[in-house]
Amino acid sequence: MWKPPEKIRYETAVARWPGAAEASGSLLFSRLDHKALSLESRTWVPAMVPWRATDEGFVTPANIEWYARFARGRPGAIVLEATGIRDVPSGPLLRIGHERFIPGLAKIVEAVRDASGGTSRLYIQIIDFLNIRRRPPPEKFFQRFLRITDRHRDALGAREWPEADVRAALAALPDERLREVLTAREYDELAQGFRERVTDTHLGHIAELPEVLPGLFAAAALRAREAGFDGIELHYAHAYTMASFLSATNTRGDGYGGSLENRLKLPLDVYKAVRAAAGEDFAIGCRFLADECIEGGNGVNEAGQIGVALAGAGMDLISLSRGGKFDDAKQPKVGEAAYPYTGRSGYECMPGHISDSFGPFGRNIAASAAVRAAIRAAGLATPVVAAGGMHGFDQAEAVLAAGKADIIGFARQALADPDWFAKVQGGNGAAVRLCEYTNYCEGLDQKHKTVTCQLWDRTALDAPDATLTADGKRRLVAPAWKPGNDRSDKTG
Ligand SMILES: Cc1cc2nc3c(=O)[nH]c(=O)nc-3n(C[C@H](O)[C@H](O)[C@H](O)COP(=O)(O)O)c2cc1C
Ligand code: SF4
Repeated sequence: MWKPPEKIRYETAVARWPGAAEASGSLLFSRLDHKALSLESRTWVPAMVPWRATDEGFVTPANIEWYARFARGRPGAIVLEATGIRDVPSGPLLRIGHERFIPGLAKIVEAVRDASGGTSRLYIQIIDFLNIRRRPPPEKFFQRFLRITDRHRDALGAREWPEADVRAALAALPDERLREVLTAREYDELAQGFRERVTDTHLGHIAELPEVLPGLFAAAALRAREAGFDGIELHYAHAYTMASFLSATNTRGDGYGGSLENRLKLPLDVYKAVRAAAGEDFAIGCRFLADECIEGGNGVNEAGQIGVALAGAGMDLISLSRGGKFDDAKQPKVGEAAYPYTGRSGYECMPGHISDSFGPFGRNIAASAAVRAAIRAAGLATPVVAAGGMHGFDQAEAVLAAGKADIIGFARQALADPDWFAKVQGGNGAAVRLCEYTNYCEGLDQKHKTVTCQLWDRTALDAPDATLTADGKRRLVAPAWKPGNDRSDKTG
């Protein structure tokens, strides 16, 4: 992953934890009711893909155990990982593109209800994404993938050459010449691998996204409702289809790109279709970017306008993330696919402990506060979730007290210690295992390996309740914790 050049090392530390009475009277542990959203506390576990589904996208016992483990810590809400809305193979990512996925998802709902004693609400993040391929070996790119055009022939003075000779000549060119001879897109496909964009309207299935997606999202939302979820989070963030429609880089010429009004059209159409299908009493929110953190992308001003439009349309919730784009992703190795969390925008999404003078904690709070302020200035009360490096009680409480957010998301901190919520609320904050923001978990995610946390995945492997990865080397969920039993937290 990209790191800020300053390379300043940060250690996570918390100066003070509240007693039980203070925690219970806090904003963080106070209820929030807004339209179909009803939370017992303002704590939130944002979506995290743990790579535990089957290759066909079905729920596994490991998925159920993963969410039950978060639920035992009793956060106000958990968002189930990004789950695909289409009925197409997509590797070990959960899917909700057909009725056959409902029974498995319903088991997670049931497990979360049981494990949290009904405290934690469960939402599901639903996603659409476009095709991406691995970076090809250059010889294969020139022999098979590149479509030879007059541009190539003219650059080589090779109008009359047989195509095979043109391909061979191109393959022999040095990099600086290739940058001139190939179009920017062709060079990108060589260097990064082929990746569809929402602007590829010459491809029929991309041109028709605005017609197809509202129905696909609406059908997925209905299935989520049937499975028993409390609501859905539309994934409008990071590097995926809906975020790409919202992005300032979207230049589609069919009325769904260009101006912000046009870029908002599909996200609003999707929301309206989902609402019509799932009803007013089902919580429908979305996650989008408070700042895309890429050149030419949406900044916080556009994000404020997007927030006003989405909240104004009737969303029950706005969750804000940051960065995580393909546009500045690092070059993958040959045979691997580009990954949207490897460049600067990726760092902004999941900031690590080696950072710049700002540091990794609360990096998205100022932008989230600005988006929330725009929503409030428009007279809308829609709750806003802020996340990114949040780990301390005072830190979270200060954000809420200052009106910078309404709900605090703890993603990696909840992975490091799923009992954070129960511990802090019960006055046992000193027993919290603090996330070190090393991004070991993120490294596993990038390799599509079972995600665990380095602070607990090698402890007490032989405990009777420990379930392990296929190679037997890591436990799949954090060891159990009971109040007054802080040793077991550290040793299993
Ligand atoms: C392993 C892993 C998987 C993630 N998967 C998702 C995802 O499916 N959807 C999403 O919106 N964000 C995803 N994220 C981003 C987190 O939700 C969160 O925005 C980010 O980690 C920053 O918050 P934090 O500092 O509290 O971890 C993932 C993060 C991690 C570490
Ligand atoms: S591996 Fe654990 S400690 Fe490291 S960033 Fe992930 S959750 Fe935090």
